[in-house]
Amino acid sequence: MAEKKLGVLIHGAGWVSGEHIKAFNQNPHTEVVAISSRRLESCRKRAEEAGLENIAFYTDYEKALAHEGVDIVSVCTPQQLHPENTIAAAEAGKHIVIEKAVANNPKDMRAMADAVNKAGVKTVVSFVLRWNPLFTTLKSLIADDAIGDVFYTETDYQHDIASWWTGYEEGRTKALGVSAMLVAGCHALDACRWFASKDPNAAAVPVEVFAYSGGYRKGLEVEYDYFANTWKKAPPLEYDDLEVVLIKFSNGALGKVSTNYGCIMPYGFPVEVFGTRGTIKDNRIWSHKFPGQNDWVTIPSIQPVSSDVKHHPFQGEMDHFVECILNDRESHCNLADAVHTHSIVFAALQCYETKQPVKLPLQEMV
Ligand SMILES: NC(=O)c1ccc[n+]([C@@H]2O[C@H](COP(=O)([O-])OP(=O)(O)OC[C@H]3O[C@@H](n4cnc5c(N)ncnc54)[C@H](OP(=O)(O)O)[C@@H]3O)[C@@H](O)[C@H]2O)c1
Repeated sequence: MAEKKLGVLIHGAGWVSGEHIKAFNQNPHTEVVAISSRRLESCRKRAEEAGLENIAFYTDYEKALAHEGVDIVSVCTPQQLHPENTIAAAEAGKHIVIEKAVANNPKDMRAMADAVNKAGVKTVVSFVLRWNPLFTTLKSLIADDAIGDVFYTETDYQHDIASWWTGYEEGRTKALGVSAMLVAGCHALDACRWFASKDPNAAAVPVEVFAYSGGYRKGLEVEYDYFANTWKKAPPLEYDDLEVVLIKFSNGALGKVSTNYGCIMPYGFPVEVFGTRGTIKDNRIWSHKFPGQNDWVTIPSIQPVSSDVKHHPFQGEMDHFVECILNDRESHCNLADAVHTHSIVFAALQCYETKQPVKLPLQEMV
C-alpha cells in the first residue's frame, strides 16, 4: 500500500513561501495540500508557479488549520505574525516550520516556546544556511577536530536590505521589523553559534552579550541605486543599519557578529573560525590534519553568496525536518535552539539602552 504523505499547509504566500512549496513538493514523504494568505490571488499565484492543482486556498487561517490532512504548517508570514501563527498551529497539533525572525520580543517568544512544549509538536526555524553546502562541510570538519577546539568565531551579514525586498515596507519599521539584527542579521548570529560548537548536532549556547549600533542609513529617505551608482529616493529605515555584537559562549569561546545594511557591495557573508589547531576563513582551511600544507587548502563548494531565496538550501532544511518528524527526533534547529539566537538580538537591544553587558538567559526566558 502506498505510504500516506504528510500534508503541508503553507501560510503567507509571499517570496519565501515559493521555496518552501518547492522543497515540500520534492520531498517524497510530503505534499502541499493547502495555501493560506491575506489575499486569495497570492495563494493562486504560488500554486500556479509550482504547478499545483486541486489544492485548497484560504484567507482564514483557522479554517486552513482545520483543513483535512494537514500535518505540517509552514509559517511564512511577516515576522510580527509568527508568534500568533505558531501558537495557533501548535494548539491545532501541527508540526511547524517557523520563518525567522520567530518573534519581535522575548515575551512573545516565551509564549511560543510554551505552546510548542505543551503541544509536543516538532519545529524547525529557517536558519537555512545550516544546510548550505559550505556550512555542512565546515561543521563536519570542526566536529572532526580539524581545527582543534574553537575559541573564536566571527560572522557577518553584509547586505543592503532595501525596497527590493517584498517585506521591506513593514520590515524597515521599528514597530514591525525592530532591528537589523532581528530582520536579517540573525542568520549571522546563528552561524556564529553553529560554528562555535564542535558538537555536530548543536550550536553554542550564549551566556553574555555586549553590543553597539550605528551606521548612517537610519532616517535617510534614500537607498543606493546600483545601476546608476548613486542614491535614489526610498522610504527610510527606522532603526540603525549597523550592529556589532560580542558574545561569550558557555564553552568559553567568544563570538563577534555584525549586521551591515549600509555596505555598498554585493551580498557578503564572511565566516572565520579560529581553533587551537587550525583556522577556517570562508572556504579556506589551515589544519593540523594536513601536516604538509604550505598554503591554505581551498574547499570547492557552494558558498553563501546570494540573498535570493532561490539560492538558499530550503530542500536540505525541509528534508531534515521531515526526517525528524518521521523518526520522532528533535531538530538541532528547533524553536528551543532559536531562542538562544534571538535572545542575543534582544540582549543587544538592551545594551543600546543600558550601555552594560547583558547576561543570558534573559529574565523572560528563565
Ligand atoms: N530564511 C530565509 O532565508 C528567509 C528569506 C526570506 C524571507 N524570510 C522570512 O520569511 C518571512 C516572509 O518574508 P517574505 O520575504 O516572503 O515576505 P513577503 O514576500 O512580504 O511575504 C509575506 C506574505 O505574508 C502574507 N501576509 C501578510 N500579512 C498577512 C496576514 N495578516 N495574514 C495572512 N497572510 C499575510 C502576505 O500576503 P498577501 O500576498 O496574501 O497579501 C505575503 O504574501 C519573513 O519573516 C522573512 O524574514 C526568510
